[in-house]
Amino acid sequence: MPQPRNAEAESARPLPKPAPPSAALLAAVDAIARERFGAADLQGPALQAAVARVSEDYTRQRGRIEATRGADGPLCARLRFFLPRDLPKVQWPLWELLRAGALVPGEKLRILDLGAGLGTSSLGAIELLATAGLCSRFEVVAVDIDARALELNAALSRRYARERGLELSLETRTADLESFLQRQRGHYDLVLLGLLLNESTTGAGGEEASARAQALLGSCVSRLDEGGAVVVLEPALRETSRALQQVAEHLRHSQGPAHVFAPCLGTGACPMLERARDYCHARLPLALPDAIAEVARGAGLRDSDLTFSYLTLRSSPGGPLGPGHQGRGYRVISGPLRSKGKLELLLCGPGPARQLRRLDRHRPRGADGLADLGRGALVRVTAPADGVRLDVGGGASALEVVYDGAGGLPAAACDT
Ligand SMILES: C[S@@+](CC[C@H](N)C(=O)[O-])C[C@H]1O[C@@H](n2cnc3c(N)ncnc32)[C@H](O)[C@@H]1O
Repeated sequence: MPQPRNAEAESARPLPKPAPPSAALLAAVDAIARERFGAADLQGPALQAAVARVSEDYTRQRGRIEATRGADGPLCARLRFFLPRDLPKVQWPLWELLRAGALVPGEKLRILDLGAGLGTSSLGAIELLATAGLCSRFEVVAVDIDARALELNAALSRRYARERGLELSLETRTADLESFLQRQRGHYDLVLLGLLLNESTTGAGGEEASARAQALLGSCVSRLDEGGAVVVLEPALRETSRALQQVAEHLRHSQGPAHVFAPCLGTGACPMLERARDYCHARLPLALPDAIAEVARGAGLRDSDLTFSYLTLRSSPGGPLGPGHQGRGYRVISGPLRSKGKLELLLCGPGPARQLRRLDRHRPRGADGLADLGRGALVRVTAPADGVRLDVGGGASALEVVYDGAGGLPAAACDT
């Protein structure tokens, strides 16, 4: 992979943003569902019921996940609904990497997709990069303990690549990811772990699961080629998000091979771990394609926006503010909090969590950049922080918006 450079500054065209699945992907999903499930293919209310059940398994009945692995109903629900719904999630961490020039795809991109299932994460990465014309040759190694899911993955990837005119070679390995990593010595530009970590460490206790996840992610980082990245996605549940935050916290303060690139910008203790009820997750404000939104409504699920928690690791230091940035960078972790005479936002960055405050009398005429900032926005503040408060406007410190969290851009949310 070529050396990192500032992709946005050098690129004449805008970087691709996370987007719903393309028509080519939806058509490939439909064709493979018909071809592979035949009479067991699900549509309408039967699909909605299967989706509701899988969702229940992944949120409240997690013990059932293993028992239903490889069965027709859950696999068809994953192919027809969860894959197209979840596919854009991986695109947010990738967009952050591309924007900072921390990922520069060369002529060919090598992806290791661990717990690949039907290929949601690798296909999401390929959609983003291919749609933007950043890369058209992909080599994917997909690892999963579920051989049937991998068969569907291979059929879908082949069909999709043909429809899009992409060069995509896929190698599937039916294996447990930890033993695969122990045996395997290849190197990759991207290592993806989509909604896997919590599932692969099921059964281990909190501390043991965290230690296993840290060792696993260290091993993933050591498989990266120069300039590569590991992207971990987890469900936006309090338990799974906090477990990922714990892992990030250990990695940020350890001397191992893994450097946290995002979402954390802080150097101190994670402010979201202080209270057991807090958890940090991302919200991608995307509209689902109509057919997928209809299934979501029928299954009692949200029909727009995607929520997830994520962690991006690299083998060298750096963050989403890009190389050589001056000043203090903060991530917005709340929506605008309005009270009498002022507007506040919660920020995560160097030191403790900060409250960004602007008095209404300092509100600019015309467009109000501060009120429009969405969760997940990145800002730089020039003046030193006074305790936990950062005042902007009226001659106080200057605020520069690096990117906002609105208008289709993702958002890191803070639920309390
Ligand atoms: C929730 S699915 C996610 C699939 C896909 N990555 C995605 O983002 O949609 C988790 C996948 O991890 C696989 N898995 C669970 N434990 C595993 C392990 N120890 N080794 C390899 N794969 C595993 C499951 O079979 C399943 O396909």
